[in-house]
Amino acid sequence: MIDSTTTNGSSQPRHHTPVSELLKNAGLFEARGFVAGKWRTASNNATFPVYEPATGLVLGECANFSKDAFANSIDTCHDGYQEFWSQFTAKERAKILRRWNDSILENVDDLATILSLENGKAISEARGEIAYAASFVQWFSEECTRSYGDNIPSSYPSSMVFTSKEPVGVCGIITPWNFPAAMITRKIAPAFAAGCSVVIKPPSETPFTAAALTKLALAAGVPDNVIALVPTKDREASLELAINPKVKKISFTGSTAVGKMLTSLASGTMKKVSMELGGNAPFVVFEDADLDIAVDAALVCKFRSSGQTCVCANRLLVHESVVDAFSERLVAKVKKMQLGKGINANTTHGPLVNAAAVDKVERHVQDALKKGGQLRIGGRRPEGLTGYFYEPTVITGATKDMEVAKDETFGPLAPIFEFSTEQEALDLANDTEFGLAGYFFTKDISRVLRVAGALQVGMIGVNTGLISAAETPFGGINESGVGREGSKYGLAEYQNIKAVTIGAIKA
Ligand code: SIN
Repeated sequence: MIDSTTTNGSSQPRHHTPVSELLKNAGLFEARGFVAGKWRTASNNATFPVYEPATGLVLGECANFSKDAFANSIDTCHDGYQEFWSQFTAKERAKILRRWNDSILENVDDLATILSLENGKAISEARGEIAYAASFVQWFSEECTRSYGDNIPSSYPSSMVFTSKEPVGVCGIITPWNFPAAMITRKIAPAFAAGCSVVIKPPSETPFTAAALTKLALAAGVPDNVIALVPTKDREASLELAINPKVKKISFTGSTAVGKMLTSLASGTMKKVSMELGGNAPFVVFEDADLDIAVDAALVCKFRSSGQTCVCANRLLVHESVVDAFSERLVAKVKKMQLGKGINANTTHGPLVNAAAVDKVERHVQDALKKGGQLRIGGRRPEGLTGYFYEPTVITGATKDMEVAKDETFGPLAPIFEFSTEQEALDLANDTEFGLAGYFFTKDISRVLRVAGALQVGMIGVNTGLISAAETPFGGINESGVGREGSKYGLAEYQNIKAVTIGAIKA
């Protein structure tokens, strides 16, 4: 769909207007990496192009680092971590985080512009993501000073036990393109709060948001030997984060396949891991649900970021008695969505991230239609848009044998399955190896408690499609991963508990 051929027939990639010209603070656009304490270009000036998914134009050439840059950054951040932990009080680290939060919010327009251009999401959503990203920094600036240990009655005579919480050390942070800002802050704000240092491998699709956030973190007072940002297209190079013995923790958001591979490599040196992996979220509408609430929730939950979130509803399970009414109302609202370049103010939904993402949605749609699904809206690549677009699509009559029942589409396809009993809905909902998020809609309080207990997932939305927030533990079970981000539990992922037993207290 997108090619790099110019109108005069040459095959030079076409470039976007320089992004820095679109910013109030041009310095926020940075194509170098922050490696071993300095902004640097890669050796031999190696770069990779970063594209605008809405047009295929090149936004910039990002520095492309090798394994050595990871190893050097890990060494630098290893020294930095000792300093950060031993010379900064929790209150000082909290102050730095608070300043970083404030500067992210002050620069929301520029950050959202960079994010929308490289990710494609609508500018309103991009602004929302920046606020969401900042909320983790604020949250952990507050959690930072409330990291308490225990005082435990000892079973030995004349003894006492206390515990303290210590930072794990250097953390390897590998983040996804679907939330170029929030997935970085959700990981590194608790790491800093705990007193850890971080070496970040940003996504190669969206490295410029990560660079802008790093600039603001440094300006807010994060020491230059406590953070490194190492962009690369070379997956082997970034695996240094999973095998280097000086790295004590890996935090990754992405596919289950890559999460398993990283976990297995990290086990070589028994690193702590947090893995936020794939999902296949059920969205269950019972016969007693308020359908207006359920339809509005489906729009947010299914089509947020054009369907590219791990917690997006993947399967809409609707009771047979309300399925027609629900589907009609959903289709009527989907009709009003405005596809376009994220950066345009009237766009409600932007493109997908790349050609492979569009191909996957198309494959799921074709498979569902071949197996008896009925197309209610969408079902094609839109005319007149050159980027990686796919129309928001609703299919009714979805069944268990369809690909979309088993595999996360990660795109704007809402397949509607029918059920007739609560047990059937639960069996369908839990028929997956994943367990990230689930949603259901009902007015019956007993059912709320029963179904919330029975759904095998880490996060549940009842009568809402929006569950993500700094205060709420984010994470899954089963093949959706391990660990919790955000919330009062997020800090512990970056800490070790030390138990100290003191004997011979009574002389
Ligand atoms: C994700 O898709 O990985 C994160 C979504 C969220 O934080 O809501």
